[in-house]
Amino acid sequence: MKTRITELFGIEHPIIQGGMHYVGFAEMAAAVSNAGGLGIITGLTQKTPEGLAKEIARCREMTDKPFGVNLTFLPAVTPPDYPGFVRTIIESGIKIVETAGNNPQKVMPAFKEAGVKVIHKCTSVRHSLKAESIGCDAVSVDGFECGGHPGEDDVPNFILLPRAAEELKIPFVASGGMADGRSLVAALALGAEGMNMGTRFIATKEAPVHENVKQAIVAASELDTRLVMRPLRNTERVLNNAAVEKILEMEAEKGSDVKFEDIIAMVGGVYPRIMLEGEMDAGAWSCGMVAGLIHDIPTCKELIDTIMADADAIIAKRLGKMAS
Ligand SMILES: Cc1cc2nc3c(=O)[nH]c(=O)nc-3n(C[C@H](O)[C@H](O)[C@H](O)COP(=O)(O)O)c2cc1C
Repeated sequence: MKTRITELFGIEHPIIQGGMHYVGFAEMAAAVSNAGGLGIITGLTQKTPEGLAKEIARCREMTDKPFGVNLTFLPAVTPPDYPGFVRTIIESGIKIVETAGNNPQKVMPAFKEAGVKVIHKCTSVRHSLKAESIGCDAVSVDGFECGGHPGEDDVPNFILLPRAAEELKIPFVASGGMADGRSLVAALALGAEGMNMGTRFIATKEAPVHENVKQAIVAASELDTRLVMRPLRNTERVLNNAAVEKILEMEAEKGSDVKFEDIIAMVGGVYPRIMLEGEMDAGAWSCGMVAGLIHDIPTCKELIDTIMADADAIIAKRLGKMAS
């Protein structure tokens, strides 16, 4: 399938694996890229720019296909060494970067000069337009359903995607709630040029996370995610568990007075324990409502091949028959 996104990134299928903390290691990105999609290494999971350089080198040993790096801009007391990460990305020869969080304006000149294509993840039309205006090559439009940070507007993809299509000139992919061939065809129908998946890629054979995480996603239904940190205006969609219930109790009790320090034990630095050790109640971890559509743990190639075959069949057979 050819779209503006496959052309922009030089990939076979219009399917991107979004950056995911403690999931987006070299193994994940390489498996997705080898299957014809676009794999993304999560930059900040590596503690230092040197660590990221090694991870990029490891990924190059596993694939000769294009892959990218995610750089997430989060508010932090001690910010990561962003200039160092940007330098490493450029010096390592990476040509595709997925930015997320705050506006990436500051890093755009360096990336543009180095010929790096930037896809910025946005949860609203206004942020998407801003990304377009500062020179981003594409956007990933992340609806309210998404795992991770859906923003504070709560607009689901059935509205957000066609609104983005009404306003944007640069290509965009649908992100949040995407799982299969039906998602891809729907995303294309709503104006997107492909799709970005997070949660679906965790439940694959190659995802370098503990088996408990994969099983938790397969076992979850679409009713099992919760929104935490809303009073802090840092809303995150996570899979419900004992730690999440504790956070929600605290938020209900303290209301708008709740502080990050009140919940830090359940959200700060918990990813290694969950993703690597499989301690499923150690804290809150991002997961999309799409868990309700995930019933198996295929390889990335099986997953992507099935998505593409199903999408082709839906377009040619189901929809083709309906057209008058
Ligand atoms: C476990 C997990 C960790 C994530 N970590 C990040 C991250 O560090 N940076 C980022 O930009 N997005 C992150 N995301 C968001 C994904 O890249 C993607 O936008 C999102 O999962 C799409 O929604 P879906 O889960 O419904 O597919 C994360 C998502 C998950 C599920």
